[in-house]
Amino acid sequence: MVSVAILGAAGGIGQPLSLLMKLNTSITKLNLYDIVNVPGVAADISHIATNAEVKAFLGPTQLADAVTNVDLAIIPAGVPRKPGMTRDDLFKINAGIVKSLVEAIAENSPKAIIAIISNPVNSTVPIAAEILKAKGVYDPKRLFGVTTLDVVRASRFVRDIRPELDATTLRVPVVGGHSGNTIVPLLSIASSPIELSTEERDALTHRIQFGGDEVVKAKDGAGSATLSMAYAGARFADSIIRALGGESVVEPTFIPLAADPEGAKQIRELGAGDLEFFAVTVELGKEGVKSIVQLPTSNLTGFELKAIAVAAEALTTNISTGVNFVKNV
Ligand code: NAD
Ligand code: LMR
Repeated sequence: MVSVAILGAAGGIGQPLSLLMKLNTSITKLNLYDIVNVPGVAADISHIATNAEVKAFLGPTQLADAVTNVDLAIIPAGVPRKPGMTRDDLFKINAGIVKSLVEAIAENSPKAIIAIISNPVNSTVPIAAEILKAKGVYDPKRLFGVTTLDVVRASRFVRDIRPELDATTLRVPVVGGHSGNTIVPLLSIASSPIELSTEERDALTHRIQFGGDEVVKAKDGAGSATLSMAYAGARFADSIIRALGGESVVEPTFIPLAADPEGAKQIRELGAGDLEFFAVTVELGKEGVKSIVQLPTSNLTGFELKAIAVAAEALTTNISTGVNFVKNV
């Protein structure tokens, strides 16, 4: 019995994500919200023979109803990149969109778990935290930036150069944030050992950090990753849903480190310093974050530790951009 709302459900990510959520048999209610086209998307998806009840919510007057009594709200609303843009270039438009959606969730489902896909994730998650604090309903265990696509890419890109490995089971921890050099793949502690020359390591790290650009370039003005993101978003949502049902599930995600101050000590010592948000691997439970999974730190390389420091520096700016946006409104 899980109720899910998808906000931005008629978009490039929203449509395939809504489809995949309709196929998730744990979901009983699927609320699809957008400012355009959502009645058609919902009518179409509602014919699929699973038990979830699908309902369309169109425009701001129906937003409150879309997010009332939901357990999980997923936000892929907002503009995507075009070639030549960074994720930070999306801030101007997406910051306001995320702010208004999180305000509605805070007012109508204050205990909902919120999963933010909208970029720049490094700043939109801090925006959400500030809104939830202002509304008096902030629980750092229930707020997530979706960085699953980074680990999905890491598994697949490793397989591109090591075809003997299984991309479906290989796990590469990725920490930091979700843009360029804030994305730090920890290849030295992947679930299977990967022997890499310095050139291979550098090229693979760069490809994981800038994988999004490959898609933006290939789509040539028609947007950014949508299908692989819908897969990654559905995987993340399924992990949350299974954890709500009592399973112990492990996923990487960009979270407020206040969700597990004790568990965050390790990543702070590795370079996250006093940052409020960082992508880490977490164990999920019924209340959201149960704990931050500890890394086998003695195996990390100097290259990886340096990359964490670089990521932390960029994240400091990204996070304060989000926080200041809310404070200055
Ligand atoms: P899109 O333009 O195809 O779809 C966005 C949807 O959001 C549209 O249907 C639009 O109508 C809707 N929307 C706009 N304003 C809204 C509002 N106020 N309320 C509700 N819906 C609103 O874009 P897309 O390709 O689906 O990408 C969406 C976002 O996801 C972008 O910001 C993109 O950068 C981001 N993204 C993140 C990741 C990640 O790994 N976290 C991966 C890919 C894309
Ligand atoms: C991605 O990693 O594919 C997304 O963040 C979209 C983008 O702008 O690259």
